Amino acid sequence: MNDMLTHAYKQGYAIGAFDLVSLDFLQGILQGAENARAPVILSLAESHFSYFDFELMMPAVEAAARQASVPVAIHLDHGTTLGSAIRSINLGCNGVMVDASHLSLVENIELSSQVVSMAHGCGVPVEGELGYVPGVEGEDAECHPGKVAYTSVKEARRYAGETGIDFLAVSVGTVHGRMQGKPSLDFGRLCDINNALGIPLVIHGGTGLSDDQFRQLIANGVAKINYYTALSDTAERRILQNVRSGKADGYTSLLQGVLQAIAEETERCIRLWGGAGHAEEVLAESEAWLPVEHVIVYNADGLDDSGVQAMADKGRQVLSAIPGVREVFAGKAVKADDAYHYSWLVRFCHQAVIDSYRDHPEHLAFANQVFRPVAGDRISIDFRSLENG
Ligand code: 13P
Repeated sequence: MNDMLTHAYKQGYAIGAFDLVSLDFLQGILQGAENARAPVILSLAESHFSYFDFELMMPAVEAAARQASVPVAIHLDHGTTLGSAIRSINLGCNGVMVDASHLSLVENIELSSQVVSMAHGCGVPVEGELGYVPGVEGEDAECHPGKVAYTSVKEARRYAGETGIDFLAVSVGTVHGRMQGKPSLDFGRLCDINNALGIPLVIHGGTGLSDDQFRQLIANGVAKINYYTALSDTAERRILQNVRSGKADGYTSLLQGVLQAIAEETERCIRLWGGAGHAEEVLAESEAWLPVEHVIVYNADGLDDSGVQAMADKGRQVLSAIPGVREVFAGKAVKADDAYHYSWLVRFCHQAVIDSYRDHPEHLAFANQVFRPVAGDRISIDFRSLENG
């Protein structure tokens, strides 16, 4: 996501971060991006987790991203805690937002810094938010109660400097959900924030802005635009059309055409925001998101099979909670006469996790107190994928 947004920021266009709530959204958004040959961000908002099961959805999102021929990032939108940022990275997100914008500046800086330090240890960039973008009307609006608070340039400089966030979501007059009346945006403020920070800026509440407002936002440093309510309204209109036609006969026929309608609206936005045709350049300039396998084979000294089993259970529980760990496999050799009898395969989301995992206190405690004392005879190697050269 860092490579994608840096490209967009330098070239003066914005990448759409479209929130998905179902497979129709997932496939429709990717279809729109493929049609426009553009990079795209698949966004999963924590405030939407009551609409779908995040854990069930992520394998589908990851599989779809891998299938795509355009660059795709998978992003946690509006994450509220350090725990939710860790969970989303371990489930496959490679970008996270920490939204502590409703807290005081000091509290926002504290939580954002914790998320940045953890996420950077996993090779994952972080979006922070300063100022508050409220919701007004529509399905998404109720997730963002409260009044607008514009981002202050002075606070933005302090927030970015102290936290080390990679992208900043700003409040310059947009709202989540549908607009009421014509929104008036503070472009002067946006220009000053951009000059002060020089990092990609993010706009939440993309629904309802005019073409000209989008152009001016992008001209002043906005490289990521979050968009949801208009996609939801597009899907709703299509379903109502199916109902009114009188031809719909059951669940799947009610949803007929929803995917295509989402694809068309996604493609329209991508073209308007200048992302069309950038897929190949971005792919050429971006680091592929590939896992690393931390492989250990060992013999257990003084432990019988049930002792090893207990150690494996404990290890799976402790190690899989460490940031950047996608999967922990504890194994026993199928053939009893092989040189090593047991194994660990720990999959890291990114090469950066080799260092952060090695030094993580939970790993050190397990390794030093439980594992290493019984596994003096071991081989440990980190493997990066040969996929993509
Ligand atoms: P809209 O629903 O107004 O498009 O905003 C989406 C958003 O900002 C999600 O983070």
